[in-house]
Amino acid sequence: MPQHTFVLNGSPVTVEVADDVRLLWVLRDILGVTGPKYGCGINVCKACTSHINGKAFNPCSVPVSKLKPTDEITTIEGLPATVDRDLHPMQEAWLEEDVAQCGYCQPGQIMAAVALVHKVRAEGREITDDDLDGLRNICRCGTYSRIRTAIRKGEGRM
Ligand code: FES
Ligand code: FES
Repeated sequence: MPQHTFVLNGSPVTVEVADDVRLLWVLRDILGVTGPKYGCGINVCKACTSHINGKAFNPCSVPVSKLKPTDEITTIEGLPATVDRDLHPMQEAWLEEDVAQCGYCQPGQIMAAVALVHKVRAEGREITDDDLDGLRNICRCGTYSRIRTAIRKGEGRM
């Protein structure tokens, strides 16, 4: 069985798994990292949203063989450590706004929100309503208005 090495939440990991197994199943079933949720498996629902080298991506659509040993994967479990805190400011904003209902989509929503803040900062600007409209993470519970409020609050603290 081929081996695949990448950096997961700050630590190198190596897994023995077939080349075509997609990263979401490597994370959840082999490494026990279950923050990224399985919704659709086809890059539509965004429940699995995590970061690769600081950018949002969907591990359900990436075969593990595509990863390089230097690729840094961050899941919701590793998000607080990126700012050396117990909770990331976006997570704190989420709690204060009481965003979650069933919670299933929420790790992906938070990871998408943090990546969006980094993206617009790199462009030298702040999040606009159009940016928020562009987020494609599905919430079956319809928490969208609280998500938007929390993203604005989290952005202000990042
Ligand atoms: S499970 Fe990855 S986008 Fe739906
Ligand atoms: S909180 Fe239930 S799916 Fe979003």
